[in-house]
Amino acid sequence: MKGNLSTILCALMGLLVSEISCQAPKSPEEEVKFLKVRLQLMKNHYKLMCNQFSSLAQNCSAPAIRCTECPDGWLQVEDQCFFLSTKKQNFSTSAEKCKDIGAHLAILTTREQHEAVEKEGRRLGWSQTFYWIGLSDSENEGDWKWVDNSMLTTSFWNVQKSEPDNHTDGGPEGEDCAVVDSFTQSWYDVPCGFLYPRICQKPAVPLIEDS
Ligand SMILES: *[C@@H]1O[C@H](CO)[C@@H](O)[C@H](O)[C@H]1NC(C)=O
Ligand SMILES: *[C@@H]1O[C@H](CO)[C@@H](O)[C@H](O)[C@H]1NC(C)=O
Ligand SMILES: *[C@@H]1O[C@H](CO)[C@@H](O)[C@H](O)[C@H]1NC(C)=O
Repeated sequence: MKGNLSTILCALMGLLVSEISCQAPKSPEEEVKFLKVRLQLMKNHYKLMCNQFSSLAQNCSAPAIRCTECPDGWLQVEDQCFFLSTKKQNFSTSAEKCKDIGAHLAILTTREQHEAVEKEGRRLGWSQTFYWIGLSDSENEGDWKWVDNSMLTTSFWNVQKSEPDNHTDGGPEGEDCAVVDSFTQSWYDVPCGFLYPRICQKPAVPLIEDS
């Protein structure tokens, strides 16, 4: 315990003065232990400063920097990553396909996320403008829930078309699953068996990982 504390103190001081040589480690094992503590302190310090910079940069319109990142080909919005797939599948298969890549169907909880994914849909400009998002009311008609079981609080239904309208043109079971329409920039309810491309989502990872 006492040994650990002095290692931490020594590492802490080492952050301030790089050439400090308090209790110079004797064996490689001790040195590795010492450097590990010091590295972790620096990582924590980096994260703190990165978050501080990011929030301050917004206020003085300095160029933004990111403290988290998404895999190549994914769109980053806030601390979340989104991926638009061209494959047209039904709702449940689409949900499974997102899980296969460590993600889930998109849960769009902010206007910024909603606007960013529909803009990306327009940019990609595939023939299809509807994309599955992780929203359905198949458990309880009219009770719209996200795939993580959370309640729908902020919605972007197409109000001109009185969506969700539970239309039965697509089949007697009505419309229990939701899509974002990148053309009208709003949501529609559609039959869960229809085939559409999808939007998967997963959290962005910190640039500096904990060891
Ligand atoms: C940025 O500006 C907002 C609004 O003026 C203020 O509430 C917030 O505290 C500021 N953030 C920082 C980090 O200064
Ligand atoms: C939706 O349509 C289905 C099938 O016609 C019906 O069973 C269900 O009650 C409808 N729900 C609402 C809220 O109208
Ligand atoms: C979705 O597609 C899968 C695979 O083709 C199929 O097994 C499943 O029954 C379909 N579900 C619906 C609701 O259409």
